Amino acid sequence: MKIAAIGSGNMGGTLGKRWAALGHQVMFGSRDPHSQKIKLLLQDAGTNAQAGTIREAAAFGEVILLAVLPDDVERVLAEAGDLKGKILINCTNRYDGKSADAEVRRLAPNAHVVRAFHTLPWEVLADPRYDAGTAAAFLSGDDPAATATVAHLISEMGLDPVEVGVPDGMAQVETAVGTLWSVLAPRFGREYSLSVLRR
Ligand SMILES: NC(=O)c1ccc[n+]([C@@H]2O[C@H](COP(=O)([O-])OP(=O)(O)OC[C@H]3O[C@@H](n4cnc5c(N)ncnc54)[C@H](OP(=O)(O)O)[C@@H]3O)[C@@H](O)[C@H]2O)c1
Repeated sequence: MKIAAIGSGNMGGTLGKRWAALGHQVMFGSRDPHSQKIKLLLQDAGTNAQAGTIREAAAFGEVILLAVLPDDVERVLAEAGDLKGKILINCTNRYDGKSADAEVRRLAPNAHVVRAFHTLPWEVLADPRYDAGTAAAFLSGDDPAATATVAHLISEMGLDPVEVGVPDGMAQVETAVGTLWSVLAPRFGREYSLSVLRR
């Protein structure tokens, strides 16, 4: 697929590199696509990756990962332009009590927004292998085809896509995952994962 990563930091850089390695065509959308940071990222990502402006990346991607800090979401989505019909993966988190999901849906009303990857630290996305079990990647979206596409991208990366309801189911999952994080991360570090066993 043609995938744009807008934001080329921990999340955008990590996921973009992994998607390029899996054979997808990736464009990093950056404030400065010619920076030294982007040059190094492209060296790591290989021949399936390129870089452009935020607007160019948004036009390129069938799937667009929004991976910027909360304060930059509004400006970046304005710069991206109309995302009509595109799949917009929202991995952004806010810690001010406002809903990152609601904000992105409001700012990108024509996109098929899928909430995903926001419950996992970038280190696990870079390497999700564990000796036993598969890490759960919770996702939700109101367009079934868009959600299925993102679920496929998640499985391809070696994670277990666990779909939860929109929007209340995900809000509850986020609260639960956050509560567990405050107890488990001090004990096990950032790279522990949750698994959802089901039958
Ligand atoms: N880090 C994690 O493990 C993690 C896990 C789950 C969710 N998240 C969420 O994912 C989002 C991205 O987190 P991150 O850790 O990838 O952040 P980060 O490493 O700081 O990267 C953010 C990227 O946003 C871009 N950007 C665009 N406009 C910007 C501006 N005005 N100022 C600074 N940067 C700007 C930058 O790329 P360019 O310089 O190329 O423009 C930068 O590399 C956040 O909303 C975070 O809450 C992070």
